[in-house]
Amino acid sequence: MKAKIALINGDGIGPEIVREAKKVLETIEKKYGHEFIFTDIDMGGCSIDKYGVPLTDEAIEIAKRSDAVLLGAVGGNVGNSRWYDIAPNLRPEAGLLKIRKELGLFANLRPALLYKELADACPLKTEISKAGFDMVIVRELTGGLYFGDRYTKEIDGVRTAVDTLVYNENEIRRVAKVAFDIASKRRKKVISVDKANVLDSSRLWRNVVEEVAKEYKDITLEHMLVDNAAMQLVMNPAQFDVVLTENMFGDILSDEASMITGSIGMLSSASLNESKLGLYEPSHGSAPDIAGKNIANPIATILSAAMLLRYSLGLDKEADNIEKAVGKALKDGFRTADIYTEGMTKLTTTEMGDKIVEYIN
Ligand code: NAD
Ligand code: IPM
Ligand code: MN
Repeated sequence: MKAKIALINGDGIGPEIVREAKKVLETIEKKYGHEFIFTDIDMGGCSIDKYGVPLTDEAIEIAKRSDAVLLGAVGGNVGNSRWYDIAPNLRPEAGLLKIRKELGLFANLRPALLYKELADACPLKTEISKAGFDMVIVRELTGGLYFGDRYTKEIDGVRTAVDTLVYNENEIRRVAKVAFDIASKRRKKVISVDKANVLDSSRLWRNVVEEVAKEYKDITLEHMLVDNAAMQLVMNPAQFDVVLTENMFGDILSDEASMITGSIGMLSSASLNESKLGLYEPSHGSAPDIAGKNIANPIATILSAAMLLRYSLGLDKEADNIEKAVGKALKDGFRTADIYTEGMTKLTTTEMGDKIVEYIN
């Protein structure tokens, strides 16, 4: 098949991990006789440096005209980068929020599963890591605190900052449906995470999710408060099949979930709308602390590329092939520094990409 894929390197380790994922996609392209047309887009700090804005209108147009977008990560050192002390809508992260909003990517799927071979890199008690877990976090991505009004001003001589959290029932319903549809093809359980003991938005969330659940008779629905969910994730991760939650809670819980898979460098993601066009990115950031050292784990990005093939291009066999190659590399003891344990073979970012390419069959 012929497909247009927009590539966003971004900042920090972005170029290093996208390079490896592209290598994997090119391998698939050749092996299966597809034609992938790659177009680079600037986003984040690198776009600010070039154009003064984190995402240009032209970049958005290229993304919209593509079949899928693959992203590394954006952003600098929070607190002390040259991109930090600027207006919120001009920061690197604003580019990411803008592309999510412009493409209407309301459903963010973050699969967190513990590869058996990585049990040693999991920081949980042995009996928990031995039991394993396999969950998908479905995070609402275009609403909530991220997109509400925000401002800072003096009120009665006191510096005051306001961020607003808004959800309407339609936004909740459409993402809930995505979660239930995914659960239908898995272990048929949705745990919806909220803070309904405090927040109005969470009470509406809970009510609407209950309404959606009525259309899915074979799915079990549970509600869990977010603080408890954070605890349950490390106490008994195996209980989770599909986790459905709002934007900010999903951001935080998915980083927590990533660490119990061994490293944040393992967690892929797909951001989807109602059409086929999706944005695929690792759940982690631009890791400025390790940028340029060729030691970042490219697996989350490579697995995101596999999701791209599966969800945007409908290439299931090809996606399976990449996922199996990743599994084989891990099984054979190949590790980047973040998931390294004694007795394994430590690889650089490039070497891990090469190894996965080698294992694609
Ligand atoms: P981060 O995820 O970049 O890094 C957190 C820690 O995890 C660091 O120690 C880092 O070295 C490590 N890490 C992350 N990815 C790794 C990988 N692939 N392999 C090995 N180690 C990895 O989070 P942060 O430090 O809080 O944020 C840094 C910047 O990234 C900020 O500007 C933030 O806004 C941005 N960010 C961007 C995205 C995105 O583009 N999707 C996501 C999260 C954070
Ligand atoms: C993520 C990131 C982003 C988010 C930031 C960079 C805006 O942390 O993709 O998880 O919070 O959504
Ligand atoms: Mn995050």
